[in-house]
Amino acid sequence: TFKAVILVGGPSRATRFRPLSLDVPKPLFPVAGAPVVSHHLRALSKVDGLKEVLIIGFFEDNVFSRFVDDAATEFPNLHIRYLREYQELGTAGGLYHFRDEILRGNPQQFFVIHVDIASAFPLNEMVEAHMKHRGLCTMLGTKVPREQATKYGCLVAKPSTNEVLHYVEKPDSFISDLISCGVFLFDTAVFGEMKKAIDRKKDSTEENDYLWTPSDDKLRLEQDLLRPLSEQHKLYVHVTENFWRQIKTAGSSIPANAAYLELIKKESPEKLAQSKPEGPEIIGAVYIHPSAHVDPTAKIGPNVSIGPRVTVGKGVRIKDSIILDNVQLGTASCVLHSVIGWNSKIGKWTRVEGSPASDHNIDMMKNGVKSQSITILGKEVLVADEVIVRNCIVLPHKELKSSFHSEILM
Ligand code: GTP
Repeated sequence: TFKAVILVGGPSRATRFRPLSLDVPKPLFPVAGAPVVSHHLRALSKVDGLKEVLIIGFFEDNVFSRFVDDAATEFPNLHIRYLREYQELGTAGGLYHFRDEILRGNPQQFFVIHVDIASAFPLNEMVEAHMKHRGLCTMLGTKVPREQATKYGCLVAKPSTNEVLHYVEKPDSFISDLISCGVFLFDTAVFGEMKKAIDRKKDSTEENDYLWTPSDDKLRLEQDLLRPLSEQHKLYVHVTENFWRQIKTAGSSIPANAAYLELIKKESPEKLAQSKPEGPEIIGAVYIHPSAHVDPTAKIGPNVSIGPRVTVGKGVRIKDSIILDNVQLGTASCVLHSVIGWNSKIGKWTRVEGSPASDHNIDMMKNGVKSQSITILGKEVLVADEVIVRNCIVLPHKELKSSFHSEILM
């Protein structure tokens, strides 16, 4: 049997996800009509013999309590719990700390999944691959464009066996275009290796006592555990060609939204909006919450998610965007490549737009300065009639009375 752990981190980490993370922790931010972490749960619910999922992080307990209740209803075959680290323990520290919880019921293997990714999660393929070798871990890998590779954990694998020969977290120079996706399947025997990794750390801090810092408490999955595993020939990779993306910056929620909508369109199209003769016109994959009101003259899609209680006025055009709860879009307004925050109001004939992002490149450079390619409005932003807001980040509670271009509005 299997178990699973989803690593969700804590409140201090989502700085790159601002301004959206000011109002909701990143794991609960909705993409394709559901919180980021529920896409992980949906994939886990399709693994035979997997009954329990532990969500481990250092957010306060109450942050996840409602989500966990809702998820129990949505995924009745999974027992889901949130376990809180007393402090930031690192990506392997929490696993070790809660090892008794993971080992309870004697599972043979357990998945570990980072929350800050969007993926088709080919978990059953990973199980199959894992059974074919004698390693302790199968990690999911994917190829990225060469110039992007050094931003990730890079690995070199033996093509004939998929054994991982080298693993380097964010290397200084190019070593491979095969990277770690943040999805792992471990044998429970790996806890023995974690214990060794902790002892190694202790020994090295005792030798360098004067170098001791509190962060040495943390046990890191990549550097402290996976590297030694690869040196012992116990680490394997399963390479996927299916979609995978990081959700790091607020802007990266748009490509993740698009990819999940496409996936839902294939797997359960009935969950998505359908074009009707009387309107509104729906193009491609679009999610509309049942409580939203969309005028029949609106034209929506592809890759749009519309949240609860949103009002979409006459003649509105929306494309490649996430519209959060209770937003009002005025008559003939246009929203492209943008995230519109909770309770925001967009005036009549107003345009809010970003630029289409290429696959892995969500921030673009302008005159050597990083500029936002996706427009993001924080919570409760008011945008006047007949203005244009292009490639901007707007912090919560702002009122925009004129047009803005490539600015961060605080
Ligand atoms: P960078 O953020 O660019 O360093 O990339 P990364 O993908 O290596 O991120 P990191 O290893 O910090 O985080 C991977 C996943 O683990 C994310 O989903 C985090 O939320 C989560 N995470 C990171 N640190 C901790 C931790 O101390 N405890 C727990 N429970 N989760 C963590």
